[in-house]
Amino acid sequence: MVQPGTEQPADWAVEAIGLTKVFRDFWGRAKAKAVNGVDLRIRRGQVFGLLGPNGSGKSTTVKMLLGLLYPTRGSLTVLGESPRNVEVKRRIGYLPEETYLYRYLTAAETLDFFGALFGLTAAERQRRTQQLLAMVGLETARNRPVGEFSKGMARRIGLAQALINDPDLVILDEPTSGLDPIGCREVKDLIRLLASRGKTIILCSHLLADVADVCNEVVVFYGGRIRAQGQLNDLLAVKDRTRIEVPCLEPALLARVLELLNQAVGSGQISVSQPAMDLEDFFLEVVRQAREASVDTSGARAGGPVAEYLRTGGDTAGPAVLERLAAPAPAPVATPPVPAAPILAPAHPEALTSVADTHPVAPQPAAGGRPPPAEAAAPAVRQAANDRLKSILDKE
Ligand SMILES: Nc1ncnc2c1ncn2[C@@H]1O[C@H](COP(=O)(O)OP(=O)(O)O)[C@@H](O)[C@H]1O
Ligand SMILES: [Mg+2]
Repeated sequence: MVQPGTEQPADWAVEAIGLTKVFRDFWGRAKAKAVNGVDLRIRRGQVFGLLGPNGSGKSTTVKMLLGLLYPTRGSLTVLGESPRNVEVKRRIGYLPEETYLYRYLTAAETLDFFGALFGLTAAERQRRTQQLLAMVGLETARNRPVGEFSKGMARRIGLAQALINDPDLVILDEPTSGLDPIGCREVKDLIRLLASRGKTIILCSHLLADVADVCNEVVVFYGGRIRAQGQLNDLLAVKDRTRIEVPCLEPALLARVLELLNQAVGSGQISVSQPAMDLEDFFLEVVRQAREASVDTSGARAGGPVAEYLRTGGDTAGPAVLERLAAPAPAPVATPPVPAAPILAPAHPEALTSVADTHPVAPQPAAGGRPPPAEAAAPAVRQAANDRLKSILDKE
């Protein structure tokens, strides 16, 4: 890890100077200064938290990092290049706040589909899909359409999707929302593991406890400006107090220690208490014990081992995926459940029509009712993503 203060430009995953984004109305009048003169440096290999209340400019900043919005002023480099650089986009994984997925695709097809967008071979897609589904605990749901998924399951498949290209920079918008405490812990462990592999993680979250658990450094946004920033340990340290933790003391020894401290700093300055366990640790311990006692659960299954390819090699990716994820798809998975897998079922031609109407860029079934190879879907998807990107740019 790079020591603070000795960084070279190449050490920055993100460097923004005076970054500003003004949204304008139809008449070109300034409507909202969403981001206002932000200076931001994110070191490679960090888990970096973007905090701030709703409307403070976090998502706008992220969209500029993804090259989806163009800054009004200021300079911005991501992985040493302009965020519009296609090669940079290949190296980014993105979990949007709202996971927009094709509700009629199954979990496995979803990962295969995104893998194809990144140009992975069929064999590699299959390998990664299997590993990722196991990792996020969705193996048993691999053939269920994601439209049927609960919010927690949708987050899990969204997270798997964000990792299919083994990205160097992973941007996660509210990754733990909708997850139970076990799922939250798994996601946080995964974030730590990805960082230990040298990946840079940018985490947007309202869940301050989660941020405190995984982030090395944070910025706090308010009104489009950064109001506080730094190493989390420094920001949170209560600098005028000292805490000493020792094994539980005998009363006589405690009395002697207190007497000494009393003489040195005065009794009003001393407090003695017993450390408490973190509620999350406590909860997970209760669940662990219940599991050991073989108590059955009908809920989501815990995630499995970290995907092998995430622990080892580097890799390729396709740039249109970020646009694809940011483009509002017609049917977010959070909407009510839909009938199972019509996209693949030739027995329901009317369902196919409705899918085609509402999912213009989703893979279409080939003759004979077989799902198309994911490669066949990619050019149409890329085209649609690029059209979408162009329409965003034209609004600038
Ligand atoms: N496309 C847009 N057009 C106009 N104003 C926008 C647009 N996107 C965001 N804003 C405004 O910019 C500000 C910051 O929004 P956002 O970046 O989404 O905040 P956050 O992600 O922190 O909740 C808000 O006042 C929001 O209303
Ligand atoms: Mg937001």
